[in-house]
Amino acid sequence: MLTDYHLHLRPDDLEARAEDHFTEENVSRYRALAAERGIAELGVSEHVYRFEQALTVWQHPLWREFAIDDLDAYCEFVRTRTDLRLGIEADFVAGAEDRTANLLQERDFDYIVGSVHFLRELLADVFALYVKTKNFHWHMSGPHFRDYHLLLDEQATQIFAMTDDIAERARKLGGTTIRSISDNHAISA
Ligand SMILES: [Fe+2]
Repeated sequence: MLTDYHLHLRPDDLEARAEDHFTEENVSRYRALAAERGIAELGVSEHVYRFEQALTVWQHPLWREFAIDDLDAYCEFVRTRTDLRLGIEADFVAGAEDRTANLLQERDFDYIVGSVHFLRELLADVFALYVKTKNFHWHMSGPHFRDYHLLLDEQATQIFAMTDDIAERARKLGGTTIRSISDNHAISA
């Protein structure tokens, strides 16, 4: 059976209102397209930072700006008015594991999607780190040249080996990855 559990009913822009997108009509639109493509089971996984309740987890400026929807109204809509699986896309916030667990455990989610969209940024950072490490490997000079030169190359090889796992994980979860050097430059921190 084909499934799609990474689906958002509401667009991400600030002007979009939940009441215009959490509707049965919008769900039917997704259902029709899924049926056309042979996808039998659909799950909705709205971004956690769109919900007011997420501010108990993290007071990030972007979250404060975007957190306008009510999490319980979303859960109730999906449960009572649709046949979709109820999910949520919850980013990993270091140091906020307990608060994240509280927020998620208080509701009856069928599944949780992790930080899918962060993986692309992480991949860009890993590539940038790889090139920087190679830079030191290539430009190293002075005492102990040979030891440092070899050590840095070994480190670069290990960093490079991470990239495929990150990229393929991102694709598997329905995200995208880096497409070019300029893409990498625009995304990396
Ligand atoms: Fe998403």
